[in-house]
Amino acid sequence: MLDIGCGIKEEDLKSIFNPFFTTRPEGTGLGLAVTHKIIQEHNGKIKVESVWGSGTAFRIYLPLENDNRQM
Ligand SMILES: Nc1ncnc2c1ncn2[C@@H]1O[C@H](COP(=O)(O)OP(=O)(O)OP(=O)(O)O)[C@@H](O)[C@H]1O
Ligand SMILES: [Mg+2]
Repeated sequence: MLDIGCGIKEEDLKSIFNPFFTTRPEGTGLGLAVTHKIIQEHNGKIKVESVWGSGTAFRIYLPLENDNRQM
């Protein structure tokens, strides 16, 4: 389900996980970079679906313990 935010512009999608990338006046741009790093450390994945003007959904996939399959 999409959130009730403003959505993310197509051109910004490739940058949102980069440290210090922000479009918010008071943003640090670290939220998603840190989130991405933590999920990577757990051998997981994060996927984003966003419709500009409508909203955004982030999906997080984490492997089960002792499950070595590649996600
Ligand atoms: N739920 C969302 N809806 C719309 N845009 C988002 C959403 N989450 C992130 N973004 C976009 O990705 C950018 C980077 O997000 P990130 O969380 O890394 O930093 P931030 O929210 O700008 O700052 P901070 O981490 O300090 O809260 C945001 O500036 C915004 O453009
Ligand atoms: Mg944030």
